[in-house]
Amino acid sequence: MAEILKIYTFPESVLRVEAEPVQEIDEDLQKLIENMGETMYDAPGIGLAANQIGVTKQLLIYDTAPRTNGRKMGVLINPEIVHGEGKIVHDEACLSVIDFSAEVTRFANVQVKGFDRNGRPVQLDAEGLLAVCLQHEIDHLKGVLFIDHISSLKRALYKKRLKKMLMKSQSSEPE
Ligand code: NI
Repeated sequence: MAEILKIYTFPESVLRVEAEPVQEIDEDLQKLIENMGETMYDAPGIGLAANQIGVTKQLLIYDTAPRTNGRKMGVLINPEIVHGEGKIVHDEACLSVIDFSAEVTRFANVQVKGFDRNGRPVQLDAEGLLAVCLQHEIDHLKGVLFIDHISSLKRALYKKRLKKMLMKSQSSEPE
């Protein structure tokens, strides 16, 4: 049975590591993909990159479809944006950035290349929410978070608020 993994949150350093390309698609990787899926649907989220669960491999999963249609999990290994055009502004959030969302400007259309979970080459043309999601997740694999795309003032305000939240939760936890 798939298990729910711990999601690392900002400012944990693993989120800043550039992920290594996946060299081998084996049983361990399939298990990792299943566990990441369980974790993403449980959260719930529309995407999850391996860094977020502490594995610095170029692997991401996504499902931007309404959940009422069932699960349609996409998997991308060693993904790369080969083309981007247009502009979209979307209010983004992240399972690794607690209690925050902000508008981020990204490409409206992207072409992404990579491999599926069986190691077959895939090419994806994405627009709208899926384009946003893939750019966000591919950023994760480079050690980049959506808060890196907002103004330094907004980021500083969030960091200050987060510090307060973390201090509060620490002091309320029994020894
Ligand atoms: Ni994220």
